[in-house]
Amino acid sequence: MTSHSKSDILVFFGATGDLAYKQIFPALQVMIKNGDLDVPVVGVAKSGWNLDQLKDRARKSLEEHGGVDEAAFAKLSGLLRYVDGDYADAETFKDLNRQMGVCKSPLIYLAIPPSLFGTVTKHLANSGCSANARIVVEKPFGRDLESAVALNRTLHEFFAEDRIFRIDHYLGKEPVQNLLFFRFANSFLEPIWNRNHIESVQITMAESFGVQGRGAFYEEAGAIRDVIQNHMLQITALLAMEAPTGHDVEGIRDAKAQLMKAVRTLTPNDVVRGQFEGYRKEPGVRPDSQVETFAAIRLFIDSWRWSGVPFFIRAGKCLPVTTTQVWIELHDPPVDLFREAKTERSNYYRFVLSPDVSIALGAHVKRPGESMSGEHAELVLHESDVDYEPPYARLLSDAMKGIATLFARQDVVEEAWRVVDPILGNVVPVYEYEPGTWGPKQARELTAGVGGWHEIEADG
Ligand code: BG6
Repeated sequence: MTSHSKSDILVFFGATGDLAYKQIFPALQVMIKNGDLDVPVVGVAKSGWNLDQLKDRARKSLEEHGGVDEAAFAKLSGLLRYVDGDYADAETFKDLNRQMGVCKSPLIYLAIPPSLFGTVTKHLANSGCSANARIVVEKPFGRDLESAVALNRTLHEFFAEDRIFRIDHYLGKEPVQNLLFFRFANSFLEPIWNRNHIESVQITMAESFGVQGRGAFYEEAGAIRDVIQNHMLQITALLAMEAPTGHDVEGIRDAKAQLMKAVRTLTPNDVVRGQFEGYRKEPGVRPDSQVETFAAIRLFIDSWRWSGVPFFIRAGKCLPVTTTQVWIELHDPPVDLFREAKTERSNYYRFVLSPDVSIALGAHVKRPGESMSGEHAELVLHESDVDYEPPYARLLSDAMKGIATLFARQDVVEEAWRVVDPILGNVVPVYEYEPGTWGPKQARELTAGVGGWHEIEADG
């Protein structure tokens, strides 16, 4: 099989679980509609179910997430197979092998907890199911640097790195891909995209809801592990990396890896943690939990391009609004010609990645009238309300074709853990904040040197 030949069967473990319900079935339906899926799809789980029950589950999943397209669903039902069995039992894998029939190049998606990866990959190899397989795994890729290294070692026992596809669903999002595109498809940015012109960078990932019944999961994660180590640092890499060289799949991932190596390891002074009032009463949450539902960090990139430019990231639950935004703050002009007492910072690029998508340039323009005084204006360069393809559909389609660009590579994942490792756990206090606010007030102090966090309106 050449590295880009298409997988001839899709196998997913965890077929009766939450991830399959929320993401995988809806993605499969989209893939069918797009003409990207016409091979058998085998669900594996240990639920004592039969194929009809799995089909029912698929229908319910679609009813709740995106709607059923009868034609596509009929096709999906026709492609679906089911293997029920214990992941520790060799018989399960014999059964899988039988279901695979003549298919020889499976894409195997482990939508199961990482603690089961070792058992499953061993059985896959012993049963011959994975001889020519690609494997897809889902975050969390470990819970710190050490466990990430161990997890990668487990996967590498049976799969070479170019056969492993680590999903960080942010990389499958169109507006996130557009960060890279916009940077490198235009020539006007490059001259200013550096420490000489950029004063600071702010990335905000705000969610106006809480942990939505996932308290037990969240207790093991917290905001830093859940979204900063992965989604936020991937965005940082796309914003800050050098232009990739060459046109091969690894060009972009090499550039990201190089960038991530230059990110300075965080210290406790670089982080503020918060927890929304009421979190401890959530089901599955310890009454004295110290887990953060909000984190703000300041990081530096030790490279010629970025030396001395602070990158601020904040992410949290129960904030005033749901939005992900990047603000690139430019330096003030060298001389204040108009002697203005500026009340707001106005020179910036703003990328709104969700819920609406836009790219805007903040500027200062003259206010009409006799005096040479100014007012703030935002020039919207691009706005989009297109319904984007869901990230999981894009990512699974790419994985079926063996295209790895939008997947997290081992070295980037491990470097990202190296960056956050010293701030994991309770190294700094966790401050309570009121739901519907921008986290604890201590987070404001982090950005005091650059005039504070950009104000994000409640409507995004
Ligand atoms: C997941 C996190 O990776 O990303 C969740 O586990 C978070 O806590 C989610 O809510 C956000 O994803 P999106 O695509 O809705 O921004």
